[in-house]
Amino acid sequence: MARGEDSRDDRAMDDALFTPDPAPPPLDWLERHPVRAKWETLKQVWRSGRNLLHIFHPEAAGRPYVVANLGTLRLITVNDADFARQVLSERADRYVKSHMYQAMLGDFLGRTASLISDGPGARAKRRLLGPAFNARALKRLEGVVERHVRETLDGWAALGPGAEIDIGSEAPTLAMRIAMEAFFSTALGPRAERFAALLDDLMADAGSPSMADVMDLPRWVPRRSRRGVAEKMAEIDRYLLEAIDARLARRGEGPPDNPDMLDLLVHATDPETGAHLPRVEVRNEVVTLFMAGHETTALSLVWGFDRLARERAAQDRLAAAVQAARAAKGGPLACEDMRGIPLVGATYDEILRLYPPGYVVARTAVAEDSFGDLSIRPGDRFQIAIFMLHRNPRYWARAGAFEPDRFLDRTVAGARHPFAFIPFGGGPRLCIGLAVARMEAHLLIAETLARFRLSPVGAPPKPDGKITLRTEDRVRVRLDPRAPVDAPQAATASA
Ligand code: HEM
Repeated sequence: MARGEDSRDDRAMDDALFTPDPAPPPLDWLERHPVRAKWETLKQVWRSGRNLLHIFHPEAAGRPYVVANLGTLRLITVNDADFARQVLSERADRYVKSHMYQAMLGDFLGRTASLISDGPGARAKRRLLGPAFNARALKRLEGVVERHVRETLDGWAALGPGAEIDIGSEAPTLAMRIAMEAFFSTALGPRAERFAALLDDLMADAGSPSMADVMDLPRWVPRRSRRGVAEKMAEIDRYLLEAIDARLARRGEGPPDNPDMLDLLVHATDPETGAHLPRVEVRNEVVTLFMAGHETTALSLVWGFDRLARERAAQDRLAAAVQAARAAKGGPLACEDMRGIPLVGATYDEILRLYPPGYVVARTAVAEDSFGDLSIRPGDRFQIAIFMLHRNPRYWARAGAFEPDRFLDRTVAGARHPFAFIPFGGGPRLCIGLAVARMEAHLLIAETLARFRLSPVGAPPKPDGKITLRTEDRVRVRLDPRAPVDAPQAATASA
């Protein structure tokens, strides 16, 4: 890593990301001792059961790719934008979603869920999901996001100056409230809270896979107990299927004037075949969209709030830009106003660059291929190391530093290469909910900074690699009221 110009905090974060404890032997030693290397690699894989980040050899951060041999299996870690583009996009037909996703999430989402399945079925599903994420659907969502963001901020203001909030629980609560209303309107009634709590529990469990799942080991290999999961799933399904059945019973009447996401899924029609999603698949997709979208969006806000609290200059500058827009409008901003403040999007992108909640995507080769001198064989496992790519000094100068301007400057190598910044993946399996995540995060960040000054509480969080990039500890930030107008020049001068 090119760390010369990074601050001490940046380095502390990078060290936590890139230094497994104990450190594995150097890569060139492993390459010279292939038999010992297999054993060392297996040990590393086993240790990473606690923190999946430690499955990545720290020296992989300085190479375009690293090949590890695990018995008969090859695991290829990719830290190169061209290679990532080849696997995810240009030759996507030679790679399928990793079986690991099926092993980890199949019990929760159903084997055919869009996130984890492949082939023509997955493509058809993607077409069917389209209307739930088109411009009209997003427009409806804007109102829901605006209302919940305003309520959250009013709640924080009522705590008084100097309040410390647990952003690790505030962000998921906000994301869950938005998702619940977006999907169900008021259909779950008083059971909505219980349903949300059950989903939260399940997501925490599904997102911390056992090593046997990650390695796709046979079913007889002992795994962490999932007792209790089946009961929770059954309760979730009871509520969910009841809500789905009520909508299915009225499907013949056509979609309502103001459809929620559940209506859009129930009425979705495949443009090629005219088919609707069967009942069980509507259920699978609802659970999938909650699982794929909820924790990821919340985590981006947890990491983002903490980092912004530590970046006084960046925070004040963004606050000034948002306050200027508020002053021009004469009141709080709406989602659509975010387009007029490019620094908001650039700041969120910088957060996603440094702390991509989906920090790795996995694929398995199903056909022969090559990249440079490397021959790829069917069965090879791939992990596209998004968090490394986002800090790769080939694309990003001062990689550990927080510099939103790099996303406003089209001459920056990383901002120019479409696969050097891929927090939402890329190619045909690009995240379907990225506009939803952005909408929610942009408004919350902008409106928070317009009203509050954030200060850090304690040391920067340590990353905990599960299926998403969690934090080891709870994250708190301190909120103080922000004076109405912090002039940008003054903010920069005080930095
Ligand atoms: C900051 C928030 C988010 C991040 C970082 C994120 C990240 C990702 C990534 C990296 C992928 C690609 C997985 C792969 O290629 O194997 C993905 C796929 C997906 N995401 Fe997101 N996501 C976010 C928010 C959302 C939201 C809000 C939703 C839904 C409302 C969502 C739904 C999905 C679905 C359904 C897929 C699977 C698409 C497919 O395989 O065709 N995500 N996401």
